[in-house]
Amino acid sequence: MKKVVITRNIPEAGIQLLKKHFKQVTVISEGNFCNRKSLIKEIKDADALLCLLTEKIDKKIIDAGEKLNIIANYAVGYNNIDLDYATQKGIYVTNTPGILTETTADLAFTLLMAAARRIGEAERFTRAGRFKSWGPRLLCGQDIYDKTLGIIGMGRIGTAVARRGASGFDMDVLYYDSSVPENLSFSARKVELKELLKQSDFISLHVPLVDSTYHLIGEKEFTMMKPTAVLINTSRGPVVDEKALIKALQEKILFAAGLDVYENEPEIPRSLKILDNVIITPHIGSASVETRDGMAEMAAQNIIDTFQGKVPEQLVNREVLK
Ligand code: DGY
Repeated sequence: MKKVVITRNIPEAGIQLLKKHFKQVTVISEGNFCNRKSLIKEIKDADALLCLLTEKIDKKIIDAGEKLNIIANYAVGYNNIDLDYATQKGIYVTNTPGILTETTADLAFTLLMAAARRIGEAERFTRAGRFKSWGPRLLCGQDIYDKTLGIIGMGRIGTAVARRGASGFDMDVLYYDSSVPENLSFSARKVELKELLKQSDFISLHVPLVDSTYHLIGEKEFTMMKPTAVLINTSRGPVVDEKALIKALQEKILFAAGLDVYENEPEIPRSLKILDNVIITPHIGSASVETRDGMAEMAAQNIIDTFQGKVPEQLVNREVLK
Protein backbone atom coordinates (compact mmCIF):
# COMPACT_ATOMS: atom_id res chain seq x y z
CA MET A 1 0.00 0.00 0.00
CA LYS A 2 1.51 3.30 -1.13
CA LYS A 3 1.70 6.21 1.26
CA VAL A 4 1.56 9.85 0.14
CA VAL A 5 2.59 12.60 2.54
CA ILE A 6 1.44 16.17 2.00
CA THR A 7 3.30 18.74 4.08
CA ARG A 8 0.51 21.32 4.43
CA ASN A 9 -3.09 21.52 3.42
CA ILE A 10 -3.57 22.01 -0.32
CA PRO A 11 -6.88 22.58 -2.16
CA GLU A 12 -9.32 19.70 -1.81
CA ALA A 13 -9.23 18.96 -5.56
CA GLY A 14 -5.68 17.63 -5.21
CA ILE A 15 -6.33 15.68 -2.04
CA GLN A 16 -9.44 14.02 -3.49
CA LEU A 17 -7.57 13.05 -6.64
CA LEU A 18 -4.85 11.41 -4.56
CA LYS A 19 -7.40 9.64 -2.36
CA LYS A 20 -8.93 8.02 -5.46
CA HIS A 21 -5.60 6.32 -6.14
CA PHE A 22 -3.94 5.87 -2.76
CA LYS A 23 -5.33 4.47 0.50
CA GLN A 24 -2.96 6.40 2.73
CA VAL A 25 -2.84 10.16 2.14
CA THR A 26 -1.49 12.03 5.17
CA VAL A 27 -1.62 15.80 5.48
CA ILE A 28 0.91 16.76 8.14
CA SER A 29 -0.33 20.26 8.90
CA GLU A 30 -3.65 22.04 8.43
CA GLY A 31 -2.00 25.34 9.30
CA ASN A 32 0.67 27.67 7.94
CA PHE A 33 3.69 25.66 9.03
CA CYS A 34 4.83 22.10 8.65
CA ASN A 35 6.87 20.97 11.61
CA ARG A 36 10.16 19.45 10.42
CA LYS A 37 10.15 16.77 13.12
CA SER A 38 6.68 15.62 12.06
CA LEU A 39 7.78 15.63 8.44
CA ILE A 40 10.83 13.48 9.21
CA LYS A 41 8.62 11.07 11.15
CA GLU A 42 5.88 10.85 8.49
CA ILE A 43 8.23 10.62 5.53
CA LYS A 44 10.04 7.51 6.86
CA ASP A 45 7.60 5.07 5.25
CA ALA A 46 6.24 7.39 2.54
CA ASP A 47 6.42 6.59 -1.16
CA ALA A 48 5.62 10.12 -2.32
CA LEU A 49 5.94 13.62 -0.89
CA LEU A 50 3.85 16.59 -2.00
CA CYS A 51 5.41 19.75 -0.59
CA LEU A 52 5.00 23.50 -0.69
CA LEU A 53 7.65 26.12 -1.40
CA THR A 54 7.71 26.96 2.31
CA GLU A 55 9.37 23.62 3.17
CA LYS A 56 13.08 23.12 2.71
CA ILE A 57 13.50 19.65 1.31
CA ASP A 58 17.19 19.18 2.03
CA LYS A 59 19.48 16.17 2.42
CA LYS A 60 18.16 15.41 5.90
CA ILE A 61 14.56 15.18 4.74
CA ILE A 62 15.48 13.28 1.59
CA ASP A 63 17.53 10.77 3.60
CA ALA A 64 14.66 10.32 6.03
CA GLY A 65 12.38 9.37 3.13
CA GLU A 66 14.04 6.03 2.50
CA LYS A 67 11.24 4.80 0.23
CA LEU A 68 10.58 8.05 -1.64
CA ASN A 69 9.99 7.80 -5.38
CA ILE A 70 8.81 11.32 -6.03
CA ILE A 71 8.86 14.81 -4.54
CA ALA A 72 6.04 16.80 -6.14
CA ASN A 73 6.42 20.51 -5.51
CA TYR A 74 3.28 22.63 -5.33
CA ALA A 75 4.98 25.52 -7.18
CA VAL A 76 6.78 26.16 -10.42
CA GLY A 77 9.95 27.30 -8.60
CA TYR A 78 11.76 24.45 -6.86
CA ASN A 79 14.69 26.18 -5.17
CA ASN A 80 13.33 24.80 -1.87
CA ILE A 81 14.41 21.29 -2.92
CA ASP A 82 17.96 19.93 -3.04
CA LEU A 83 17.53 18.86 -6.64
CA ASP A 84 21.01 17.42 -7.12
CA TYR A 85 20.67 15.24 -4.06
CA ALA A 86 17.21 14.01 -5.05
CA THR A 87 18.58 13.19 -8.50
CA GLN A 88 21.54 11.38 -6.98
CA LYS A 89 19.07 9.29 -5.01
CA GLY A 90 16.99 8.56 -8.12
CA ILE A 91 13.96 10.45 -6.84
CA TYR A 92 11.69 12.24 -9.31
CA VAL A 93 11.18 15.94 -8.67
CA THR A 94 8.19 17.62 -10.33
CA ASN A 95 6.76 21.14 -10.34
CA THR A 96 3.63 22.93 -11.57
CA PRO A 97 4.53 25.03 -14.63
CA GLY A 98 2.14 26.47 -17.19
CA ILE A 99 -1.02 26.36 -15.11
CA LEU A 100 0.03 29.45 -13.14
CA THR A 101 1.56 31.47 -15.97
CA GLU A 102 -1.29 33.88 -16.74
CA THR A 103 -2.31 34.31 -13.10
CA THR A 104 1.24 35.21 -12.09
CA ALA A 105 1.62 37.53 -15.08
CA ASP A 106 -1.62 39.25 -14.04
CA LEU A 107 -0.17 39.91 -10.60
CA ALA A 108 3.13 41.17 -12.03
CA PHE A 109 1.22 43.60 -14.23
CA THR A 110 -1.02 44.60 -11.33
CA LEU A 111 2.06 45.46 -9.28
CA LEU A 112 3.56 47.30 -12.24
CA MET A 113 0.47 49.48 -12.59
CA ALA A 114 0.03 49.95 -8.86
CA ALA A 115 3.65 50.97 -8.34
CA ALA A 116 3.64 53.32 -11.35
CA ARG A 117 0.42 55.02 -10.28
CA ARG A 118 1.22 55.02 -6.54
CA ILE A 119 -1.92 53.04 -5.72
CA GLY A 120 -0.78 51.76 -2.30
CA GLU A 121 0.13 55.26 -1.19
CA ALA A 122 -3.06 56.72 -2.67
CA GLU A 123 -5.19 54.15 -0.89
CA ARG A 124 -3.54 54.83 2.46
CA PHE A 125 -3.93 58.56 1.85
CA THR A 126 -7.64 58.25 1.07
CA ARG A 127 -8.42 55.92 3.97
CA ALA A 128 -6.60 58.25 6.35
CA GLY A 129 -9.08 61.00 5.43
CA ARG A 130 -6.40 63.12 3.79
CA PHE A 131 -8.30 63.66 0.53
CA LYS A 132 -9.37 67.27 1.01
CA SER A 133 -9.22 68.57 -2.54
CA TRP A 134 -8.37 67.55 -6.10
CA GLY A 135 -4.92 68.89 -7.04
CA PRO A 136 -2.83 69.04 -10.26
CA ARG A 137 0.11 67.32 -8.59
CA LEU A 138 -1.77 65.13 -6.13
CA LEU A 139 -0.14 61.67 -6.15
CA CYS A 140 1.21 61.92 -9.69
CA GLY A 141 2.89 58.77 -10.92
CA GLN A 142 4.40 57.48 -14.15
CA ASP A 143 2.65 56.73 -17.44
CA ILE A 144 2.65 53.10 -18.51
CA TYR A 145 1.26 53.33 -22.03
CA ASP A 146 3.92 53.52 -24.79
CA LYS A 147 6.84 53.09 -22.36
CA THR A 148 9.65 50.52 -22.46
CA LEU A 149 9.20 47.25 -20.60
CA GLY A 150 12.32 45.24 -19.75
CA ILE A 151 11.80 41.55 -19.02
CA ILE A 152 14.59 39.67 -17.26
CA GLY A 153 13.91 36.00 -17.93
CA MET A 154 11.72 35.54 -21.02
CA GLY A 155 10.26 32.17 -20.09
CA ARG A 156 6.55 31.45 -19.83
CA ILE A 157 5.69 34.07 -17.21
CA GLY A 158 8.09 36.71 -18.56
CA THR A 159 6.59 36.29 -22.02
CA ALA A 160 3.04 36.55 -20.65
CA VAL A 161 3.92 39.82 -18.86
CA ALA A 162 5.59 41.14 -22.02
CA ARG A 163 2.49 40.27 -24.06
CA ARG A 164 0.31 42.28 -21.69
CA GLY A 165 2.61 45.26 -22.07
CA ALA A 166 3.03 45.02 -25.86
CA SER A 167 -0.56 44.18 -26.80
CA GLY A 168 -2.47 46.11 -24.16
CA PHE A 169 -0.26 49.11 -23.51
CA ASP A 170 1.73 49.55 -26.72
CA MET A 171 4.96 49.10 -24.81
CA ASP A 172 8.32 48.44 -26.45
CA VAL A 173 9.63 45.19 -25.07
CA LEU A 174 13.28 44.47 -24.32
CA TYR A 175 14.33 41.19 -22.82
CA TYR A 176 17.41 39.60 -21.33
CA ASP A 177 17.67 35.83 -21.54
CA SER A 178 20.14 33.26 -22.78
CA SER A 179 17.56 31.78 -25.15
CA VAL A 180 15.16 33.26 -27.68
CA PRO A 181 11.46 32.47 -27.17
CA GLU A 182 9.64 30.94 -30.13
CA ASN A 183 6.47 32.21 -31.85
CA LEU A 184 6.09 35.53 -30.07
CA SER A 185 2.86 37.27 -31.07
CA PHE A 186 4.45 40.71 -30.52
CA SER A 187 7.81 42.25 -31.20
CA ALA A 188 10.52 42.14 -28.57
CA ARG A 189 14.24 42.86 -28.74
CA LYS A 190 16.86 40.72 -27.03
CA VAL A 191 19.51 42.89 -25.33
CA GLU A 192 22.33 42.65 -22.80
CA LEU A 193 21.39 43.18 -19.16
CA LYS A 194 23.18 46.53 -19.01
CA GLU A 195 21.21 47.91 -21.94
CA LEU A 196 17.93 46.63 -20.52
CA LEU A 197 18.62 48.30 -17.18
CA LYS A 198 19.50 51.60 -18.83
CA GLN A 199 16.66 51.73 -21.38
CA SER A 200 13.68 50.31 -19.50
CA ASP A 201 10.98 52.29 -17.74
CA PHE A 202 9.66 49.10 -16.16
CA ILE A 203 11.80 46.10 -15.27
CA SER A 204 10.13 42.83 -14.39
CA LEU A 205 12.02 39.82 -13.02
CA HIS A 206 11.12 36.29 -14.12
CA VAL A 207 14.21 34.17 -13.54
CA PRO A 208 14.44 31.10 -11.31
CA LEU A 209 16.59 31.35 -8.18
CA VAL A 210 19.87 29.58 -8.95
CA ASP A 211 23.48 30.47 -8.10
CA SER A 212 23.84 32.73 -11.14
CA THR A 213 20.68 34.74 -10.40
CA TYR A 214 21.34 35.29 -6.67
CA HIS A 215 21.51 39.10 -6.20
CA LEU A 216 21.33 39.58 -9.96
CA ILE A 217 20.01 43.04 -9.18
CA GLY A 218 22.12 44.92 -6.66
CA GLU A 219 23.64 48.33 -5.99
CA LYS A 220 25.50 48.52 -9.31
CA GLU A 221 22.40 47.58 -11.30
CA PHE A 222 20.24 50.16 -9.49
CA THR A 223 22.63 52.94 -10.47
CA MET A 224 22.16 51.97 -14.13
CA MET A 225 18.37 52.34 -13.96
CA LYS A 226 16.46 55.50 -14.83
CA PRO A 227 15.40 57.53 -11.75
CA THR A 228 11.84 57.11 -13.06
CA ALA A 229 12.17 53.32 -13.35
CA VAL A 230 9.88 50.83 -11.63
CA LEU A 231 11.16 47.38 -10.60
CA ILE A 232 8.78 44.42 -10.27
CA ASN A 233 9.72 41.16 -8.60
CA THR A 234 7.33 38.20 -8.64
CA SER A 235 10.10 35.59 -9.04
CA ARG A 236 12.14 34.89 -5.90
CA GLY A 237 13.28 37.41 -3.27
CA PRO A 238 17.02 36.66 -3.30
CA VAL A 239 17.25 37.58 -7.00
CA VAL A 240 17.35 41.16 -5.66
CA ASP A 241 19.77 42.41 -3.03
CA GLU A 242 17.08 43.65 -0.65
CA LYS A 243 19.39 45.99 1.29
CA ALA A 244 20.50 47.65 -1.94
CA LEU A 245 16.88 47.92 -3.07
CA ILE A 246 15.82 49.62 0.15
CA LYS A 247 18.69 52.10 -0.20
CA ALA A 248 17.79 52.78 -3.85
CA LEU A 249 14.15 53.40 -2.92
CA GLN A 250 15.08 55.59 0.05
CA GLU A 251 17.46 57.66 -2.08
CA LYS A 252 15.00 57.77 -5.01
CA ILE A 253 17.55 56.16 -7.31
CA LEU A 254 14.51 54.48 -8.81
CA PHE A 255 10.91 55.64 -8.73
CA ALA A 256 9.21 52.64 -7.19
CA ALA A 257 9.11 48.89 -6.77
CA GLY A 258 6.34 46.30 -6.74
CA LEU A 259 7.28 43.21 -4.75
CA ASP A 260 5.57 39.90 -4.18
CA VAL A 261 8.67 38.08 -2.90
CA TYR A 262 11.36 38.84 -0.30
CA GLU A 263 14.85 37.72 0.64
CA ASN A 264 13.87 36.11 3.94
CA GLU A 265 10.21 35.28 3.56
CA PRO A 266 7.92 35.75 5.36
CA GLU A 267 10.07 38.44 7.02
CA ILE A 268 9.94 41.86 5.44
CA PRO A 269 12.29 44.48 6.88
CA ARG A 270 10.57 47.40 8.59
CA SER A 271 12.75 49.77 6.58
CA LEU A 272 11.05 48.43 3.44
CA LYS A 273 7.53 48.37 4.85
CA ILE A 274 7.60 52.04 5.86
CA LEU A 275 8.52 53.25 2.37
CA ASP A 276 5.77 54.85 0.33
CA ASN A 277 7.36 54.08 -3.03
CA VAL A 278 7.00 50.32 -2.77
CA ILE A 279 3.92 48.18 -3.09
CA ILE A 280 4.17 44.86 -1.28
CA THR A 281 2.08 41.70 -1.47
CA PRO A 282 2.58 38.37 0.37
CA HIS A 283 3.80 35.99 -2.38
CA ILE A 284 0.39 35.71 -4.06
CA GLY A 285 1.54 35.54 -7.69
CA SER A 286 -0.41 32.37 -8.46
CA ALA A 287 -3.15 32.99 -5.91
CA SER A 288 -6.40 32.69 -7.83
CA VAL A 289 -8.85 29.98 -6.76
CA GLU A 290 -8.77 28.30 -10.19
CA THR A 291 -5.00 28.31 -10.45
CA ARG A 292 -4.35 27.06 -6.93
CA ASP A 293 -6.88 24.24 -7.52
CA GLY A 294 -5.19 23.44 -10.82
CA MET A 295 -1.76 23.37 -9.19
CA ALA A 296 -3.04 20.90 -6.59
CA GLU A 297 -4.40 18.60 -9.30
CA MET A 298 -1.21 18.88 -11.32
CA ALA A 299 1.02 18.01 -8.36
CA ALA A 300 -1.27 15.08 -7.48
CA GLN A 301 -1.30 13.86 -11.09
CA ASN A 302 2.51 13.83 -11.16
CA ILE A 303 2.41 11.43 -8.21
CA ILE A 304 -0.32 9.27 -9.75
CA ASP A 305 1.59 9.02 -13.05
CA THR A 306 4.74 7.96 -11.24
CA PHE A 307 3.02 4.97 -9.64
CA GLN A 308 1.29 4.06 -12.89
CA GLY A 309 4.74 3.62 -14.36
CA LYS A 310 4.60 6.77 -16.50
CA VAL A 311 7.15 9.55 -16.60
CA PRO A 312 5.34 12.45 -14.90
CA GLU A 313 4.76 15.29 -17.33
CA GLN A 314 6.32 17.95 -15.15
CA LEU A 315 9.49 16.06 -14.31
CA VAL A 316 12.25 18.56 -13.55
CA ASN A 317 15.26 16.24 -13.15
CA ARG A 318 15.15 14.26 -16.39
CA GLU A 319 18.63 12.92 -15.53
CA VAL A 320 16.97 10.39 -13.19
CA LEU A 321 15.66 8.58 -16.25
CA LYS A 322 19.18 7.73 -17.46
C1 DGY B 1 5.76 29.34 -7.69
O1 DGY B 1 4.95 28.53 -8.14
O2 DGY B 1 6.97 29.17 -7.77
C2 DGY B 1 5.21 30.58 -7.09
O3 DGY B 1 6.17 31.31 -6.46
C3 DGY B 1 4.03 30.27 -6.20
O4 DGY B 1 3.00 29.90 -7.01
